[in-house]
Amino acid sequence: MRARKERCHRSTLAPPQAECGANRGREAPLTQIFIAPDEHLTEKVLLRSYQPGDGLELNIATLESYEHLRPWMPWATETQTEMESELLVRAFRARWLQATDFVMAIRTPDDERLIGGCGFHLREGPIEQRAAELGMWIRASVARSGHGTSALEAMLEWGFTHWPWQRLSWRCDAENAASMRMAEKCGLTPEGLLRNHTRNPSGEVRDTACFAILKEEWLASKKSLTRNRD
Ligand SMILES: CC(C)(COP(=O)(O)OP(=O)(O)OC[C@H]1O[C@@H](n2cnc3c(N)ncnc32)[C@H](O)[C@@H]1OP(=O)(O)O)[C@@H](O)C(=O)NCCC(=O)NCCS
Repeated sequence: MRARKERCHRSTLAPPQAECGANRGREAPLTQIFIAPDEHLTEKVLLRSYQPGDGLELNIATLESYEHLRPWMPWATETQTEMESELLVRAFRARWLQATDFVMAIRTPDDERLIGGCGFHLREGPIEQRAAELGMWIRASVARSGHGTSALEAMLEWGFTHWPWQRLSWRCDAENAASMRMAEKCGLTPEGLLRNHTRNPSGEVRDTACFAILKEEWLASKKSLTRNRD
């Protein structure tokens, strides 16, 4: 396996800090521009921002996964060209640099193969809210092999250590068994059901299942895992 380093460990977004005097315990205001870290490596996956040149691989992976994605992902298509995919990865990169949306590739740890995509999306308010919604798809040829679970665990670890997130949420079609199971397996708490909330890609009305995990819950689960191992 090729040794990799995180390209950017630091961000200019100050972590929450206990202030002195009357302000003790309050978080510092997020007045600085956030510079997102670019990649995160675990034993099982590499998460990284898309880069120019990634379009061809994304194109192949999404076209071959069309039937697998179609019931759940409104963006799935069987007609996207390589050039359109390349423009898409460049747009993903641009939004990453502007800190307006964070769409990333899920890759094998050696960075040799794209196995899916995921993201931290600012759908719960601006970045100052310190909350993001997670999204994910896994390539059809490697689905149901544990990659989704590994990628979601990696997103929680990265998100709660190198990003400002205090809350990470997950929303899916209430009929998407794989998605709901994966959220539960990774420790997200069900927060309820939005009835007749939206439409699925076929245009039928669907319920949306909501899950979320808070930073303190994730930290507590890490502590209890360590205690159980000791
Ligand atoms: C949802 C998705 C990301 C899960 O990734 P994955 O790599 O297939 O998931 P894993 O292999 O880690 O499995 C996670 C759990 O889901 C279960 N699961 C996976 N696919 C399933 C399916 N088609 N039906 C029912 N359960 C399923 C697994 O059995 C496992 O649970 P277990 O450990 O209790 O057996 C993937 O199926 C996918 O890309 N689906 C299409 C896009 C999508 O729905 N994205 C989520 C939108 S919110």
